[in-house]
Amino acid sequence: MTDKSADIESVLDRVLVLEMVRVTEAAAIAASKLIGRGDEKAADAAAVEAMREAFDTLYIDGTVVIGEGERDEAPMLYIGEKVGGAPGKGPKIDIALDPLEGTTICAKAGPNSLAVLAAAEEGGLLNAPDVYMQKLAVGPGYPEGVISLEKSVRENVEAVAAAKGVQPNEINVCVLDRPRHAELIAELREIGCGVVLIGDGDVAGVIATTDQETTIDMYMGSGGAPEGVLAAAALRCVGGQFNGKLLFRNDDERGRARKWGIEDLDRIYKLEDLASGDCIFAATGVTEGSLLAGVKTLRRPAGGSVMTTESVVMRASSGTVRWVKGEHRID
Ligand code: FBP
Repeated sequence: MTDKSADIESVLDRVLVLEMVRVTEAAAIAASKLIGRGDEKAADAAAVEAMREAFDTLYIDGTVVIGEGERDEAPMLYIGEKVGGAPGKGPKIDIALDPLEGTTICAKAGPNSLAVLAAAEEGGLLNAPDVYMQKLAVGPGYPEGVISLEKSVRENVEAVAAAKGVQPNEINVCVLDRPRHAELIAELREIGCGVVLIGDGDVAGVIATTDQETTIDMYMGSGGAPEGVLAAAALRCVGGQFNGKLLFRNDDERGRARKWGIEDLDRIYKLEDLASGDCIFAATGVTEGSLLAGVKTLRRPAGGSVMTTESVVMRASSGTVRWVKGEHRID
């Protein structure tokens, strides 16, 4: 008799990949009811609660390593919180999550707000403190090391342009529209780059570099470090390169990093340093976006209504990317 336990385990693993979509779908549907209502907190709270409940239906022994904040700041999905329906029994999984990435976008009904999570084997995700991170990303197909935070903006653009076989002024760079990026934007425009400014949501901004249809070649600038880990998990699955460096504004922030075990505060993190081993990335669109369609309510001519969702789920070990369209009956 052959031992089938290894096969059975990998089948369960695969089931888990698809189950993760149910979690992001639940958060997206809950947040969608507050799109355009001008209330960031309510939209975030609805997504958090729905995501928390959905986790409990999964056979996992999960731990939130990136979540809604520290235990005293967040009532649910705080860092260190145990999630999942099989504590002590199911596979031990570390989870980075953002039930509503782009709270302001959702409140203002703008583009590209998402419900996102990344899951990895225990210890596979960097416990990033809630500080800023300098980010530099490029999509798949470039020689390893084409980008580096040790190089200047111009050198990075020129290296990507040379590898792509185009002029630097043909490179499009996505940047968060913030006053702190004024110099970066001016420098990119001086080179002649197209600068795609986004109001919020740099997880989607980084992932946009992996999709040729967006015409975005690179992502540059600072944003949340937790979002950096989520974006890195996605790039681990779909390909691409990423450099991230934590930015500290004061001693309190440095202290928080040390508390999470980070000793080298000047380290430049690459993909494997942020998300290692096998990992899963799942996202569902909340508002309409370039990556994913938003949640919609459709009334069926025959009666009854459905909410439609669009999600993507990816796995690093296989490189599989699945696009999942969901119809959820609401009558
Ligand atoms: P929230 O969903 O927490 O509002 O984050 C939105 C976001 O745009 C992130 O995508 C990004 O990393 C971060 O805010 C940038 O921070 P800031 O708004 O302080 O520039």
